[in-house]
Amino acid sequence: MAIPKIVILTGAGISAESGLSTFRAQNGLWEGYDVNDVATYEGYSRDPIGVHKFYNMLRNKLQDPKVRPNAAHYALAELEQKLGSDNVLIVTQNVDNLHEQAGSKNIIHMHGELLKVRNEQTGQIIDCYNDIDYNQNRLLRPHIVWFGEVPLQMDEIYDALEQADLFISIGTSGNVYPAAGFVKIANQVSAKTVELNLEPSLGQSLFQTKIYGPASKIVPEFITTLI
Ligand code: OAD
Repeated sequence: MAIPKIVILTGAGISAESGLSTFRAQNGLWEGYDVNDVATYEGYSRDPIGVHKFYNMLRNKLQDPKVRPNAAHYALAELEQKLGSDNVLIVTQNVDNLHEQAGSKNIIHMHGELLKVRNEQTGQIIDCYNDIDYNQNRLLRPHIVWFGEVPLQMDEIYDALEQADLFISIGTSGNVYPAAGFVKIANQVSAKTVELNLEPSLGQSLFQTKIYGPASKIVPEFITTLI
């Protein structure tokens, strides 16, 4: 039997049990912050020092030794190891590096990465593990896709979706497009579609299979059925 081509979309819910806040929950990441201030280019133009302070805080939190991949991240890494990187692609909306830490290799960070910054003039992307001081580095912005900006590597993502046999969506509320629309493309190409989330997402009716519960439990259980 041919090895299936699998595209896995992940969102903040997969990292919740690793100690990182989701966006839209009570006490979530946006609570206490106005998205227009910290997640738009206009907000950055108004107050670059304040916006860097926000991402410096998130970057520090991500590097807290207590923030580690959980069983869901490890299960996806094992799936790639067993089926091969050509057959398993993770498209993540997350800006953390927990998939990498767990051992996954074939990953697209469509919303950017917290541990990188970008030179606004040259476009150069640079690893960044420390606080950015805007007064010292006026050209470096967080390598984060803000609202109103185009997500990264979309052509590669659509190519993969069009070839997919199985599309799995994990830990995402289905609020943010284009990611929320990927399931429709998967359905158009007759891929199997699976939602693994704590609760039904906005797009839940578009999935053939739905399993609800904490990612650290339901993701390894589901992945076991594939390997
Ligand atoms: P959300 O915060 O919108 O949704 C997180 C989802 O994870 C919710 O549906 C929760 O029910 C679910 N969840 C929470 N804990 C979970 C657990 N332990 N196991 C499984 N599921 C759990 O986050 P996203 O959908 O990722 O964009 O948000 C999408 C984008 O909105 C983010 O990438 C970010 C934000 O604006 C940018 O920053 C560009």
